[in-house]
Amino acid sequence: MSHKIPGALEHYRLPIDSYMTELFQSKHHELYEMMRHQLGWEEGSLTYPGKYIRPSLMLVSVEGCGGDVDKALPGAAALELLHNFSLIHDDIQDDSVLRRGRPTVWNNWSKSQAINAGDGMYAISRLTLLDLLDKGIPHDRVIAAARFLDETCLALCEGQYNDLLFEDQLTVSLAEYDNMITNKTASVFKCAFEMGAVIAEGSGTRSKALGILGLELGLAYQIVDDILDIWGDSETGKQIGIDLRRGKKSLPIVYGLNNSSSDQYSKLKSIYQSSAENRDVDEIKNILDVMKAKEYCLIEAKNHWNRAKVLLDGIEMPKDSMESILLSGQYLLERMK
Ligand code: IPE
Ligand code: IPE
Ligand code: MG
Ligand code: MG
Ligand code: MG
Repeated sequence: MSHKIPGALEHYRLPIDSYMTELFQSKHHELYEMMRHQLGWEEGSLTYPGKYIRPSLMLVSVEGCGGDVDKALPGAAALELLHNFSLIHDDIQDDSVLRRGRPTVWNNWSKSQAINAGDGMYAISRLTLLDLLDKGIPHDRVIAAARFLDETCLALCEGQYNDLLFEDQLTVSLAEYDNMITNKTASVFKCAFEMGAVIAEGSGTRSKALGILGLELGLAYQIVDDILDIWGDSETGKQIGIDLRRGKKSLPIVYGLNNSSSDQYSKLKSIYQSSAENRDVDEIKNILDVMKAKEYCLIEAKNHWNRAKVLLDGIEMPKDSMESILLSGQYLLERMK
């Protein structure tokens, strides 16, 4: 199970962990046991099983814009909680039994109760963000940050809607795919960078540029996640192959369906006509391998990352913050090798 994070972001892990655990200290209802399970904190264990990528990137952005990491921690924690809310609900929506190498919340409790855990997590996320006020962050920046968080959540729900809608559609264009992952995943990375800058120095050209950089990095991140579902291993901590089984229109299959020969297309079409339980996932994979779909996706992910690097070049920032962002992007792309 992988909870590796880029070395350049490692030092943010401890402060984020301390801040997050503190939030749950006085919460004793069973509702919070479900949340603690999601966060890997049940039975006295304090090892968070996720990568903390989003809050860590937010803190790089804070530092890069001259802000104070400690004062920004409520923003970082709020984003990670939003992410976890989305994972709890996503695992219900995708019928996933495994997350971070452990049973999903719904799998241990029930789908109905997991909805409560996700909703509660979302509320805690929004409340936590307001703690930026206690840290002395000016009101207008906190309001701007609150807007980012809620706008991000709406985008995420739009993306999740399309993700589920596309399960039953054989025809999904690359543009539709891009739009779907922009909303469900890249929006959260955009929020990480832009909110970090706004907490540090208010909104301006630098926060906007960082937001676009985050978007490109987030697009690359979801493409890598799509690749790992097919060609990854148990290191992901998730079941492998469930995207294909469920009919998800991840990038490999969108590429496959849009670029196959008529013979390949007929095969794919007939496989998708059978029910999910009887779907020949290995045969889909064979066709994608012949079509070199993985190589195509890898290039697409790199293209997004290259665009992010060009944007980074135009942003004024201390050298070490720039270096941290560069190393993080490289690391995130290398996860798939
Ligand atoms: C999983 O995100 C969901 C995606 C948007 C790809 P991560 O792979 O960042 O999940 P954790 O938090 O590290 O487990
Ligand atoms: C990630 O979608 C987007 C959100 C969780 C909002 P996935 O469904 O691909 O994420 P994993 O693969 O289950 O982590
Ligand atoms: Mg999903
Ligand atoms: Mg999922
Ligand atoms: Mg996935």
